[in-house]
Amino acid sequence: MNQMMDRAFTLAARGQGLTRPNPMVGAVLAKKDQVIAEGYHPYFGADHAEVMALKNFDSIPTDHILYCTLEPCCHEKKKTPPCAPMLVQKGLKKIVIASLDPNPLVAGKGVQYLKDHGVEVVLQHCDRNEKLNRHFFYAMRKQQTYFHLKAALSLDGSMALANGESQWITHQQSREYAHKLRSQYDAIMVGAKTVRHDNPSLDVRYAEIAQNSHFRQPKILIYGQESLDLKLKIFQQNLDRLVWIGRAPSDLPKEVKIVNWDSQCGETLAKKLYQELALHSVLVEGGAELLSLLIEKGVFQRVSFFYGNCLMGPGKRLGGKSILSMQQALRFRQARWLSFGSDAVFEGEV
Ligand SMILES: NC(=O)c1ccc[n+]([C@@H]2O[C@H](COP(=O)([O-])OP(=O)(O)OC[C@H]3O[C@@H](n4cnc5c(N)ncnc54)[C@H](OP(=O)(O)O)[C@@H]3O)[C@@H](O)[C@H]2O)c1
Repeated sequence: MNQMMDRAFTLAARGQGLTRPNPMVGAVLAKKDQVIAEGYHPYFGADHAEVMALKNFDSIPTDHILYCTLEPCCHEKKKTPPCAPMLVQKGLKKIVIASLDPNPLVAGKGVQYLKDHGVEVVLQHCDRNEKLNRHFFYAMRKQQTYFHLKAALSLDGSMALANGESQWITHQQSREYAHKLRSQYDAIMVGAKTVRHDNPSLDVRYAEIAQNSHFRQPKILIYGQESLDLKLKIFQQNLDRLVWIGRAPSDLPKEVKIVNWDSQCGETLAKKLYQELALHSVLVEGGAELLSLLIEKGVFQRVSFFYGNCLMGPGKRLGGKSILSMQQALRFRQARWLSFGSDAVFEGEV
C-alpha cells in the first residue's frame, strides 16, 4: 500500500472506540512524498478527517494530493456539513481513496460529486477498512446489527456452576481485554438471569479509553421477561443506556426503552436492533441461555471464547444447533488464539 495511505490508516485508528457509530477515518495531504497535513475523525460529532487535515488551507495547491481512507461524504442529514463540496470549494485537484463508503446515503455519490466538479479520483482499493471498520461496513451493507458473542468458559466447557456461580473463571488481564472489546461496541447484551445472579455494572472500566471525555459508555440490552430488582447496579446509573429486549415487566422504569422481540416469531433481532435503535454492533456477554439462543438462530458474526485455567464440571454450558456430523461442525475464519497469563482466548469470524 502507498505509504501515505498507510499513514492515513494509522491516523484513522486513533479514533477507535470514540467515533462509533461513525467509521474511523484518516486523511493525509501530500506533495509528492512529503506529508503536508494530517487529520482523522477524533470522536462522534467532531470534524471529519478531511476537514481536520485541510483546516489551515483556504485553497489547496494544485500539486497536492489528498489520501483518504474512505470516500468523502456528500449527504446533508448529519451532525457535520458534507466533505465533498468543501474539497471542491478549496480547489482540490486529486484525491486517492481506499474504499467507497458503504453507507447507502453516500455509496459512490461522494466520488461522483467530486468527478462532476473536476476532481481526479483514484480508488486504490485495499481491505483494511473491512477490519478497522468491520461493524460499520457490516451494518451499512446488511442494514442490520453486527453480533459478537463472548463467553468465559472452564477448560471443560462450563460457563457457570449448576448453582449459577461463575465469578471469576478468568483472570484480571483477560477482563481488561474484555473491557477493551466492550469499548468498541455500541451495546452490551446480557440475559436477565445474568443480571439477577451477578449484579454486573456492564460498563467500560478497566480500559484507558474510559478516561477520555469523549468516550460514551455502550448501551445495555437486557433480554428477559420477568421483573428485576430495581436496586441492581444497572438501574443505579443513567437509565437512558438501558434497553429491554422481549416482553417488558410492568414495573420497568419508564426511561428504559423497550424493543419487543419474540424469539419464536421469526423476526430477526439483528434487523430490529438496527431499525429501532440504529445499533451497528452488539457484544453479547452471556449467559449460556441467551448465547445458545443466538447460536441456534445463527445471529452472530464473531466469537471470543475466554478459557480459564480451571475445571468446573457439568454446570451451565453452551447449547445451540444440534450438529449431527463433523461435516456440519461450524469452523471459524480468521481464527486466532491470544493468551493472558494462564487464560487462552479463541477468536474467530463466521
Ligand atoms: N461464564 C460467562 O461468560 C458468563 C457470562 C454471563 C453469565 N454467566 C453466568 O450464567 C448464569 C446465567 O445464565 P443463564 O444461562 O442461566 O441465563 P441468561 O442467558 O443470563 O438469561 C437468559 C434469559 O432469557 C430470558 N428469556 C427466556 N425466554 C424469553 C422470552 N421468550 N422472552 C424474553 N426473555 C426470555 C429469561 O428471562 P427471565 O429470567 O426474565 O424469564 C432469562 O433471564 C449466571 O449464573 C451467570 O453467573 C456466565
